[in-house]
Amino acid sequence: MRHFLTLKEFTKEEILEMIDLGLRIKAETKAKRFTPYLEKQTLAMIFEKSSTRTRVSFETGIYQLGGTGLFLSSRDIQLGRGEPMKDTARVISRMCDMVMIRTYSQKKLEEFAGFSNVPVINGLTDEYHPVQLMADYMTMIEHGKDRDPVVAYVGDGNNMAHSWLMLASKLGFELRVATPKGYECDPEIVEDAVEFAKRSGATLLFTDDPKDAIEGADVVTTDTWVSMGDEEEKEKRLRDFAGYTIDEALMKLAKADAIFLHCLPAYRGLEVTEEVLEGPQSVVFDEAENRLHAQKGVMVWLDGKRDEV
Ligand code: CP
Ligand code: NVA
Repeated sequence: MRHFLTLKEFTKEEILEMIDLGLRIKAETKAKRFTPYLEKQTLAMIFEKSSTRTRVSFETGIYQLGGTGLFLSSRDIQLGRGEPMKDTARVISRMCDMVMIRTYSQKKLEEFAGFSNVPVINGLTDEYHPVQLMADYMTMIEHGKDRDPVVAYVGDGNNMAHSWLMLASKLGFELRVATPKGYECDPEIVEDAVEFAKRSGATLLFTDDPKDAIEGADVVTTDTWVSMGDEEEKEKRLRDFAGYTIDEALMKLAKADAIFLHCLPAYRGLEVTEEVLEGPQSVVFDEAENRLHAQKGVMVWLDGKRDEV
């Protein structure tokens, strides 16, 4: 049994296999063929933070695969009243076939996984957002940006930046990360990525200048400056991130056919301008849709059904 927690735990081949499965199931879905690869299975979805895309994509995804999703907000289950993670994990994993969790610390997620009898999927923690990166890479493939791409991530050294580091260092492409001083990526995660990069041949560049990151890039991406849990720091963050807005002038430094990605929700006028988000290079809604398809690939793979697709 495997869990899907950070991307660290997978090889390049396994990551590409899951994305390929997602693409094949996407083609079936587009042809209105819904093969019940996960017939009668239940996916428990525990949310300790808000969500639009993650909830809708997992719930729709498991339904289209022949199963059912259980939306469990921590406000409604006993976890929110102090029942320990390890008890919740043992109860839910005796009744359900797979669990997706969106929570705060990665440690909490990993504690759950340690006590679970069924595969656990990270639906976002403070440290990582790996399912998002599966959709992002699927979108890169579909837009022809998967051959030796140069990706520029500009913004907060947060869960999205960390997951880009994992994906690039596992798959072996060039990632340039521009963060303001004080908002750099977690040094331990950088250390892991540097180790993986040695093996995969990935190039990782860290800078505090968005221009250095974006110059000649194939993919430009960013994320909110105020992640869930950072709300109290909002005013300070908006001041500290001045100059990091992806606008048309910055996009002009990338390759002429570069694409713009954003996991969404986006805050127009802060991390990205309206013109870029709604402009011809933006593929953010393809990316959002791919959450559905990429996660089906992940779920079918974790269930061991990859040979049936
Ligand atoms: N990108 C993403 O995970 O969106 P939600 O917070 O809406 O799930
Ligand atoms: N970094 C953001 C991503 C939201 C999908 C957050 O954690 O709130």
